Amino acid sequence: MKMLLKPWPELKTLYNRHKEMKKLIKIIIDQYAQSFGGVHGVSHWARVLENGRLIARNTDANLEIIELFSLFHDSKRVTETRDHNHGLRGAEFAASLRGEAFQLSDNDFDLLYYACSHHTNGLTDADITVQACWDSDRLDLGRALITPVPEKMCTEIAKEQEIIEWAHKRSCDGFRPALIMDEWGLDLK
Ligand SMILES: [Fe+2]
Repeated sequence: MKMLLKPWPELKTLYNRHKEMKKLIKIIIDQYAQSFGGVHGVSHWARVLENGRLIARNTDANLEIIELFSLFHDSKRVTETRDHNHGLRGAEFAASLRGEAFQLSDNDFDLLYYACSHHTNGLTDADITVQACWDSDRLDLGRALITPVPEKMCTEIAKEQEIIEWAHKRSCDGFRPALIMDEWGLDLK
């Protein structure tokens, strides 16, 4: 009989990864100084991840780094308004948890650190994974009353009008992705 299920090691890896992510999210949430429901809060993080997954399906961007970026890039905000260096603080926070709460190779961590620390600088030229992280965040600017434009995007897929409109509507509507509960185990009610 043909096996339809994935081989056990892959399922085990996935299960362990979900367990690891849930623990990591709890650590990040427990120290987050802003409102979970705020413009830089959990729904934003989840939309950034879903934007990133869409970009990663069309590029060689690294999904693991994108997921970590979605969690860390705004994790150290001290205000919902202009907050210089919050990206750098998020990158340093990731560095402090690396090796304990999550694992990443030196090369991959360098990409995560750079993506977090420079995500508000308006840059477009970078490694494809860093570009995917930045585009994922920029596609969700509608919540801050900013309309994303193709010229500010890094990747070809994020410059497509259809993608921008899809992400922009979700951002403006305050869409709350199901992954917040299904994958991160967070009940925001
Ligand atoms: Fe963000």
